[in-house]
Amino acid sequence: MHRRLIVPGALAASLLLAIPASAASYAPGAPGIGDPYYPAYGNGGYDVSHYDLRLTYQPTTDELEGTATLLATTTQDLSRFDLDFLLDVSEVRVNGAKASFARSGEHELEITPAKPLAKGTSATVVVRYSGVPSTKSAYGFSTWHRTPDGAVAADEPESAWWWYPSNDHPLDKATYDVSVAVPDGTQAISNGTLQSTSSRLGWTRWNWRSNKPQATYLTTLAVGKFDITTGTSDGGVPVVNAYSKDLGDNDGAARASVERTGELVDWLSGYFGPYPFSSVGGYVPNTTTGYALETQTRVYYSPRQFANGSNTSVVVHELAHQWFGDDVSLKGWKDIWINEGFARYAQWLWSEHEGEGTAQELADYVYASHPADDAFWTVAPGDPGPDDQFDIAVYDRGALAVQALRDKIGDDAFFAVLKGWPKEHAYGNASVDDFRKYAERVSGTSLASFFGTWLFQPSKPAAPAARNAGLAPAQAAKGAVARPKSWKKIAATDSVHSR
Ligand code: ARG
Ligand code: ZN
Repeated sequence: MHRRLIVPGALAASLLLAIPASAASYAPGAPGIGDPYYPAYGNGGYDVSHYDLRLTYQPTTDELEGTATLLATTTQDLSRFDLDFLLDVSEVRVNGAKASFARSGEHELEITPAKPLAKGTSATVVVRYSGVPSTKSAYGFSTWHRTPDGAVAADEPESAWWWYPSNDHPLDKATYDVSVAVPDGTQAISNGTLQSTSSRLGWTRWNWRSNKPQATYLTTLAVGKFDITTGTSDGGVPVVNAYSKDLGDNDGAARASVERTGELVDWLSGYFGPYPFSSVGGYVPNTTTGYALETQTRVYYSPRQFANGSNTSVVVHELAHQWFGDDVSLKGWKDIWINEGFARYAQWLWSEHEGEGTAQELADYVYASHPADDAFWTVAPGDPGPDDQFDIAVYDRGALAVQALRDKIGDDAFFAVLKGWPKEHAYGNASVDDFRKYAERVSGTSLASFFGTWLFQPSKPAAPAARNAGLAPAQAAKGAVARPKSWKKIAATDSVHSR
């Protein structure tokens, strides 16, 4: 039987304003998506499916202006919602109507639509903005990199705040059209395929498209004077690379490495299955940073990665992320091992392929070269904490865990897991725990205590555990494990984890 409700005054008033009967449930979306490592990153209450960024950038002054149009679906009744953004906003519209907006926290843009948004409906959000990204910071830092002839947005976990408003967390992936006008003679590089360019009155507009879901931190922008090369891999993947025209002495080594992208992506497909995106490539801007980043389809490389000569190992690392990190993205930043453990392991497979040390030899070396009292073992790759998210242990101990898994479940099951995983979670998100369950299903082996030891234990797995996992603890104790030939080249990619 339905009872008549006594409607309180305020609610009765809002009912008169024709707000849906459930008005009491309309509430602001959370200012964070719920990631314990980064509580304010991302936002609650909606999910973005597409970003349309139409921008203009002037390299001489670092002035960026543009309009972002976001297509979103609400996941709760929303009276208000946040985007993450640092530049100056002049107008916001939601479903065509002007919305009010305010700033809060370190990087929140709070948007109050003229009419509240019902759960499960679509919302088109238009943000007009401008600003000088290099003058903006959050938490006292900036990840916007100025170069002599432009700028670059490429960093992890945060880079979007400096150039477009977003729901900045990998849980909310979307497709992108990125269109950037820059002065003639300057190039604008982004993800995906270059749909077209057009020139008018001294400005050239570059239109890029990513037609597969892409995380916000994997969306990149580089403006500067680049030499662009194009091709197609044997396997049929279109390749677009770009090199700053002022790489100086690093130019040759950069090209000798990145020009092998097509070959390496085909080689990785042999392990991980078909390449998941419509384009691949890398770019090397003239930044002073040290790291590389797996920006989707268009990898970011610092020139310093090539200071000692060519480095195909770093190219393999970043391309491996296209499957492990980009196609299958983490659910929370604590799950970073499903990115870095496997990208590092791919470098070990490449070493093996090149005859410079097998994955097993590299694993034995990692195990042997860190004594039990080394702080290395205090970092748990399965949940390293935000301060150690890119610690070397996430990479090396992370890959050691992958080799231990290979030894435990055998090559057949192991390589089936490597190839099946990207298919299982294609274009989605997954956690370390999802990986354990998947590996258990494929191998028919319970792996809870195994992963407990190799991914979560804050101390060196003991000799019996190592023996059990096929490592060579007896030799290790004597310090007799030889350093594989590839070690230095692989270690040369380690500046990936320093800001
Ligand atoms: N995911 C990158 C890599 O391993 C690491 C980026 C680390 N972030 C940074 N700001 N250094 O390829
Ligand atoms: Zn990596």
